[in-house]
Amino acid sequence: MDIRLQIITNAALAAGEEILKYDPNTVGVKVKSSEGDLVTAADIGSEKIITQIIKAVYPDDVIISEEIDEGHKILTTESLPSLTAWVIDPIDGTNNFKRGLAYSGISIGYIENGEINLGAVYDPYRKEFYLAAKGKGATRNGTPIKVSEKRVFDAGTRVCTSNSYEGGTQANLERYKKLGYVWVDVLGSAVLIMTDVASGRLDLYHHNGLKPWDNAAAFLVATEAGAKITNLQGEPTTWLTNEVVMGNSDLVDEFIKRTIV
Ligand code: IPD
Ligand code: CA
Ligand code: CA
Repeated sequence: MDIRLQIITNAALAAGEEILKYDPNTVGVKVKSSEGDLVTAADIGSEKIITQIIKAVYPDDVIISEEIDEGHKILTTESLPSLTAWVIDPIDGTNNFKRGLAYSGISIGYIENGEINLGAVYDPYRKEFYLAAKGKGATRNGTPIKVSEKRVFDAGTRVCTSNSYEGGTQANLERYKKLGYVWVDVLGSAVLIMTDVASGRLDLYHHNGLKPWDNAAAFLVATEAGAKITNLQGEPTTWLTNEVVMGNSDLVDEFIKRTIV
């Protein structure tokens, strides 16, 4: 196996097991941008394990991780084409983690010259490990995955949206009226929602406030599983985007046509 593929796998699995050692009821916690946006000692523990595993083999590689502020300023459209780095979300779904909701994941992407080359997402609760390598497909626990085949919006179509603390939810719910009755989910882990879309468990994701570390691994997993990813105007976008519509191409096109344009 390619060394970076091995590293991304080991790091995601080790970090996932690490976070399960913390008790959500007693874990140290700080509020970040708002009461809904937290960082815990488990986020920091996970970040440490991932960076140690990478640095042990590639001490000079660039690491950009959510809870380490220094690297964030490199993430600009201008610097993207020359960016080679590991991009990490040590716990995606920290609020869920703190509340004991068992829907949080670890996300690591490996970016080469601006492109996502490897993506790994681990859900330590369901013991599900998603892996994608550019042009080589996406798997869950080694089995190939594909996006859903649902082509229409009806009461069984699972549309996921932003958490309310980001301010997008209310406006989004207004938009969904134009879809008629659909099943609307607000699940609280962008990364797991995107891997659940990638594997056909959910149909569409629409979000207005994503961060590059939410996208770096899951965009590749979803793309390799056949997802279309656009911004809110239906245009192609990079993993630096805040806005995303993700699903099979028919649903994404129909969603944009009916709710946005
Ligand atoms: C957040 C979660 C949430 C999404 C936010 C993310 P975090 O990540 O994925 O579901 O709506 O935009 O920031 O803070 O738990 O890593
Ligand atoms: Ca996080
Ligand atoms: Ca996140």
